[in-house]
Amino acid sequence: MKPVIAIDGPAGAGKSTVSKLIAKELGLSYLDTGAMYRCLAFKSLAAGYSVEDGEAAAALMEDLHISFGVGEPQPVYINGEDVTALIRTPEIGEAASALSQFTPVRQKLVALQQELVGEGGVILEGRDVTTVVAPNATLKVYLTASLEERAKRRQLEFIGKGMEAGFQDVRNQIEQRDHRDINRDDSPLKVADDAVVVESADRTPEEVAAKIIGHLKAKLQ
Ligand code: DC
Repeated sequence: MKPVIAIDGPAGAGKSTVSKLIAKELGLSYLDTGAMYRCLAFKSLAAGYSVEDGEAAAALMEDLHISFGVGEPQPVYINGEDVTALIRTPEIGEAASALSQFTPVRQKLVALQQELVGEGGVILEGRDVTTVVAPNATLKVYLTASLEERAKRRQLEFIGKGMEAGFQDVRNQIEQRDHRDINRDDSPLKVADDAVVVESADRTPEEVAAKIIGHLKAKLQ
């Protein structure tokens, strides 16, 4: 069985950046499970559905094919249409978090994610990948940093993309999102029993990646 690295953590902890570095270093494929929730949220809003309608959103999955390309940022497609930038707005992040509370939505996406994890050789990140999607992962990591630190990073990310983003607004959005992701009934974000907790503040993404690879090597020995 090829290794599976599962990384969970709150918004803005650096999961994507670090996962992509590790994927490259170890020759693993990279699975961004949050992008899948974002795709469903994007389609739901486009269909005019409320973010409180989990049943309607889950039904959309029947006609929705999500696929990933290779590149930076990683291209994301819905039925062949490039939605890479469209799913990265704060509104879609918010809608994804709201819809992710609903069990029918989670069931569809978790099944798809487990198929993609398949035979292993993958690093995946999200909110429930250590607890639900890949509970038998070779290494489970909970990546975290303070709210202030994460808000600072997210703000820089938005500004880098030419979006307007005040620090307080970004901080409030992240705080609300964490609160919802941690307190939902179905598969809440939490530290898995056997996860290693890695702090990303005051470390470069390369340093965090090296730390996680060190944990993997220790596990494999
Ligand atoms: O990681 P992200 O910001 O792209 O995720 C968007 C939302 O999707 C997140 O706030 C909650 C939901 N999500 C989830 O419930 N489970 C996952 N494994 C990944 C994301």
